[in-house]
This record gives sequence, C-alpha cells and structure tokens, in this order.
Amino acid sequence: MKRGSLVIGNWKMNGSASEVDHFAAALKGAEQLPCEVGVCVPFVYIERMARAVAGSQVVVGGQDVADRVDPGALTGAVNARMLGDVGAGDVIVGHSERRSEYGETDQNIVAKVGAALEAGVRPIVCVGETKQQRDAGHFQQVVDAQLDAVLSSFESRELASLVVAYEPVWAIGTGDTATPEEAEEAHSHIRGRVAAYNSELADGCRIIYGGSVKPDNAADIFRQDNVDGALVGGASLNYDSFAAIAAASVEAEQQNKTG
Ligand code: PGA
Repeated sequence: MKRGSLVIGNWKMNGSASEVDHFAAALKGAEQLPCEVGVCVPFVYIERMARAVAGSQVVVGGQDVADRVDPGALTGAVNARMLGDVGAGDVIVGHSERRSEYGETDQNIVAKVGAALEAGVRPIVCVGETKQQRDAGHFQQVVDAQLDAVLSSFESRELASLVVAYEPVWAIGTGDTATPEEAEEAHSHIRGRVAAYNSELADGCRIIYGGSVKPDNAADIFRQDNVDGALVGGASLNYDSFAAIAAASVEAEQQNKTG
C-alpha cells in the first residue's frame, strides 16, 4: 500500500523575512500543489509564513519544541501550544543536529513528542545512524533504539499522526545521499519495527527520507515502496527546487500505481 506523499522543507537556521515572503508567494501562486507539502521554518518566521500561506493546503511547522506544554519559567523555550497558536501544524523532533549539537537524548525526544501530541501538533520524528555506526553494521540497532523509545512510550492510537523521517546522518547536507536501495532497506525495516507495535499504525505511518534530496535524485528515492516523501533541507530554501522535488514525488506515486 502506498500512502500519499508528504514533502516537508526544513529551513534549519536559514531564511529572512523577505525570503519567507518570496517563498510563500511562490507556494500560493502554484496552481495546485502536487502533494501534501509543509515547510518548517525558524520559530520567529512561523507566524509570518502561516499568515502568508493561509487558505492554501501548505502546513507550516517548527523545527523543535519544548518538552512540556504548560507555560512556566523556562527561558528561551517555546511550547507546542504556542506553535499551534501561531499556525504551526507540524514540528520536527529529534533531528540529528539537535541530538549531536544540543545533546538531545531519546528521553528528551519522547517528552517533546508527548508535548506535541498533547497540543495537537504533528510530530515528525527523525531517526538515523552515523557513518561510523553504518560502517560497523549497526544501523538497524541504532534506528531501532531511537524508534523504540517513542513507540514504547505511547499508545498506538496516540501516535496516529506520527511521521517518521529516516535521515542517515552521513547523508545530511553532504550531497552523499542514500541509494534508493539503501533507503528502501531502511524504510522497510522501520515499517517492520512499527508493525511490531501495531500493524495498522505501520500501514498508515508516513516514513519520509531525508539527506541530500535534490530534484535530480528525488524520483528514484520516491519510487521505493516504503518511501512516502521527503524531509528536504538545503534544497527547500529555493522554491523551484523544492517544488521540483514535490512534483517528483507525485510522478513516482503515479508510476507506482500504473507500473
Ligand atoms: P539536507 O538536510 O537535505 O540539506 O541534506 C536534510 C535534513 O537535515 O533534514
């Protein structure tokens, strides 16, 4: 079964007010969006982007969230209710840059997923191994541990909106993307792991690929059975390349249906 494609941009710590405006105008100007599309921008631009794309089907998201929803004395933190309040429908949780640069643990990530779910914001949970872990033959154990932390902490029905992003760390921002076969192997493994908790959840769960997705490699990756879209970093900063990736996902989906 193929689930509908989902293509999410991850701007990371990039962009400016005028870039938000340009991107939003292009998104809104597109006659029809080929698939479900979202863009996760820095906190300070969420509201601007959300207002600019209001009335379209584009989902705006954050890139991180506090590990609790209640307001309180936590300088610098932004909770999931605040994200929802300014128009965010999605949030990326557990990106490898947050794991490596800010020391986020699986425990932190579980708390953040819980906070997002409580506030009705869809969590996009990133998992993936480093080059060293892959070379040592440990990619499945690494990904399983990251997944299990989340899957074992909630009831399957609570995770109905969960999106998993498989992002091999060695492919992020390096131009060194996973081959379509490597992506499919990892995605089908992830789906199997989710199925061990709940097969219905596994069937419906979108597992998207991230790591140097570009217009010229997107279609081959999207054609894989268990790849349901992409989390796009660098190439999402430019509207044309982002739109080309979204278009490639739909092309691949149609080919899968007819082929
Ligand atoms: P990239 O980033 O597309 O620039 O490799 C992907 C990501 O980190 O989400």
